[in-house]
Amino acid sequence: MKNNRSNPPIVSNILETIGNTPMIELNRIADDIPGRVLAKVEYFNPGHSTKDRMAIKMIEDAESNGLLKPGGTIIECTSGNTGMGLALGAIVKGYKLICTLSDKQSKEKIDVLKALGAEIHVCPTNVSPDHPDSYYSVARKLNAEIPNSYFPNQYDNISNRIAHYESTGPEIWEQTEGKITHFIVGVGTGGTISGVGKYLKEKNPEIQIWGVDSYGSVFKKYHETGEFDASEIYSYITEGIGEDILPKNVQFDLIDKFEKVTDKDGALAARELAKKEGLLLGYSCGSAFQGLRQLKHLLPAEAVSVVLFHDHGSRYINKVYNDDWMKENGFL
Ligand SMILES: Cc1ncc(COP(=O)(O)O)c(C=O)c1O
Repeated sequence: MKNNRSNPPIVSNILETIGNTPMIELNRIADDIPGRVLAKVEYFNPGHSTKDRMAIKMIEDAESNGLLKPGGTIIECTSGNTGMGLALGAIVKGYKLICTLSDKQSKEKIDVLKALGAEIHVCPTNVSPDHPDSYYSVARKLNAEIPNSYFPNQYDNISNRIAHYESTGPEIWEQTEGKITHFIVGVGTGGTISGVGKYLKEKNPEIQIWGVDSYGSVFKKYHETGEFDASEIYSYITEGIGEDILPKNVQFDLIDKFEKVTDKDGALAARELAKKEGLLLGYSCGSAFQGLRQLKHLLPAEAVSVVLFHDHGSRYINKVYNDDWMKENGFL
């Protein structure tokens, strides 16, 4: 058995295992994509997603700024993965955690957050962000009502993208020995693409930064035209990517291109990654890979593409990895 991961030393708590995730060559599934395709597999983080990195950074920055005080309550609106990172931070550091989620998030994500001691408020998906019942508004309201509470607001909190600038970006640069030519990732709050993108562009401005968006989201059109077109917004199934708002963490000027992927194509690509590469990944990871596949005509033969895979497939077992669910949605 060949294992290239070094044997890590004893650490003092779970938070010290965040980061330094492996990069894995994609083989069969990337046969027809020019150059090398490498996967930065973020489910190796202890909360099984890349969002552990920014969750802890948001907590630690709030502690330093005096916004989060001992015995406080953290309140966040999350698609689940940020909540998971916050839950780990809250446990180790002794805070209470309340998460608001939209009702399209998988049941597994909700159960996992509860298992880690979080209080959960499930809110309707099909309301506008400023509606009092939206998961953004409910988080704000709870923050106003609960004394000694802190609302990190991952959408506009710049600690989010700084976490990726400080850790994920340098890891990718070092793991590819500076040979990366293209970085492709799904975009939600924008923290991952903006933090990694900024670091990589500083190292080599030629590196292409591509964002994967969903149909029903405003990002691609806004990037291409500067127009926030509300008629682009409708509900979709893919979790974690696309938005009906423009979060401060999306640095549009760092992004070279957006590509939209359908719910169906993202789901099918996730299943293909499991079967062909042994990578049991989250739904948006399928979308990220599919985005690269749709843009493969733009890749030179010597391209070194890195796709960042956000989270683990265990959170989607009753969705993307369930044949009945796939059939109900017309995907199979
Ligand atoms: C599964 C999944 N994919 C993609 C994203 C998008 O990442 P970012 O918010 O850094 O843009 C998220 C963010 O929550 C996510 O949970």
